[in-house]
Amino acid sequence: MIMSNFEQTLSIIKPDAVERNLDNEIKELFKNKGFKIVKEKKIQIDKTEAESFYKIHETKPFYNDLCEYLSSGPIIVMILEKNNAVLANRDLMGATNPKDAIEGTIRKKYGISIDKNSVHGSDSLENAKIEIDFFFKD
Ligand code: CMP
Repeated sequence: MIMSNFEQTLSIIKPDAVERNLDNEIKELFKNKGFKIVKEKKIQIDKTEAESFYKIHETKPFYNDLCEYLSSGPIIVMILEKNNAVLANRDLMGATNPKDAIEGTIRKKYGISIDKNSVHGSDSLENAKIEIDFFFKD
């Protein structure tokens, strides 16, 4: 039996990648892996919005820097769709720290540091729904 597990996940192209004009290249990598970009927009959020988006990390020592950083410049937020999209996106992004990311992943290719790691992706289906709502609920 062929099991279909069609999912949507949220992806963010972070300020370091947008600043280096890598957004189209990164979108091509998603499309080449079979993701459909269902919705996308280029925005800049303020620090309060970043704090709300990353609330699950509020007790972490890097929380303040992370929120400063995500609000420091334009970002591209996208809804990506494909079979097992959450896991497939995490595989394509690679390890959080670009130093640990394997060849062929976005963070290996473009990431600068653990903060400037070029992309964000939802870490579970549950968080994907919350994150998609955060940016795309009208
Ligand atoms: P992201 O997938 O957007 O989720 C939270 C972000 O926090 C993560 O990518 C990193 O860019 C950033 N970060 C900074 N320091 C750490 C750390 N020590 N562990 C995990 N994430 C970190």
